[in-house]
Amino acid sequence: MTEKNTTFNFDQVIDRANSTSAKWDKKVLEKGFGDPDLLPLWVADMDFKAPKPIIERLVKTAEYGIFGYSIIPPSFYEAVLSWFKRRYGWEIDKKWLSQTPGVIPALDVAVNAFCNPGDKVIVQNPIYYPFYRVIENNGCRILLNPLKFSNSHYTMDFEDLEKKVKDPRAKMIILCNPHNPIGRVWTKEELKQLGNICITNEILVVSDEIHCDLIFPGYKHTNFAIVNDEFAQNSITCTSTSKTFNLAGLKISNIVIPNQKIRQTFVNTQANLGVGGANLFAVAAMEAAYSHEICENWLEALLQYLKGNLDFLKTFIKENIPQIKVIEPEGTYLIWLDCRELGLDHKELEKFMRGKAKLALDEGYIFGQGGEGFERINIACPKSILEDALNRIKEAMSNMKN
Ligand SMILES: Cc1ncc(COP(=O)(O)O)c(C=O)c1O
Repeated sequence: MTEKNTTFNFDQVIDRANSTSAKWDKKVLEKGFGDPDLLPLWVADMDFKAPKPIIERLVKTAEYGIFGYSIIPPSFYEAVLSWFKRRYGWEIDKKWLSQTPGVIPALDVAVNAFCNPGDKVIVQNPIYYPFYRVIENNGCRILLNPLKFSNSHYTMDFEDLEKKVKDPRAKMIILCNPHNPIGRVWTKEELKQLGNICITNEILVVSDEIHCDLIFPGYKHTNFAIVNDEFAQNSITCTSTSKTFNLAGLKISNIVIPNQKIRQTFVNTQANLGVGGANLFAVAAMEAAYSHEICENWLEALLQYLKGNLDFLKTFIKENIPQIKVIEPEGTYLIWLDCRELGLDHKELEKFMRGKAKLALDEGYIFGQGGEGFERINIACPKSILEDALNRIKEAMSNMKN
């Protein structure tokens, strides 16, 4: 695909070994992984180079050679505001924004700021496992509002949520929108229902929207805070370029808090905890990502490529390993595989994937209750790598039968 002299070659296999990559080098360096033959499709980053304007901006920043204390320039805010306005119709006021070195640090600040030890934070499991850690690290308790699963489709359980919000210690919900690992992109109607329950019961909504730019055709992301102003005033939204443009190692996210009082408390806690300020490389990269047309074209090409990988995965699995069911994703590049028909318990399934198929996936059980018997596979890689991974499962399964 060619756009303005820029070729987006997502098929290119780039050797990431010895690049200090958590995804690729951890498998060699750490116990638990510790197997150089493992093919890693676990942590949520991509095996693709970031778009050129971002790389060029980072090089320019490096070549300047002075890395003293920096400010966040007005052009950064213009780029962020313009991105959310043109892609989502969300008119963010510059003063609503603060930066943290990532979404997880922001969740940590939020729980610390708005919950006391012993308070409860609602999450909709199975869910991205660091959410549990963030809650417990702050001396708080996890209150589960399990997702309903029927006909291979997940939905929110509002009846259960109505009960959970009545718990006098419940203070907050950490919403995952789009949801990792099950891939739902929550509809406006679903968000409305959730938001109304939370407003009535004084539950603060922290909406993790880190995957919001990665949506499959036919689906549309709705920012929780644009459903209506009441929701905006009862929300903290976490966003970033880290998933969209593969910049997770740069460590920056924008936290959007329209309510002045909530924002002040968040920012004060950030200062108390020392979780503030932004690295000048991260700021430069984010500004480039949100402002260059080529980056937006790159994203559109990426989404097409991911759709191609998804279709390939679905066909391959259907034809070769029909015991595994693909949960149709609406967003993210993380695909949730129902492996329960293999008849293995969750530890046996892990052993099978690691030991027999030589694949490092994220095991379903680490996402909490409801995740046992599932695997999460990251398809943001060249198709040839995905093909290798699927062939490994196919072969390991045929050996299992023999
Ligand atoms: C839903 C979700 N939130 C947060 C993160 C991590 O965010 P960060 O690296 O910005 O802390 C991830 C990474 O996979 C994620 O999937």
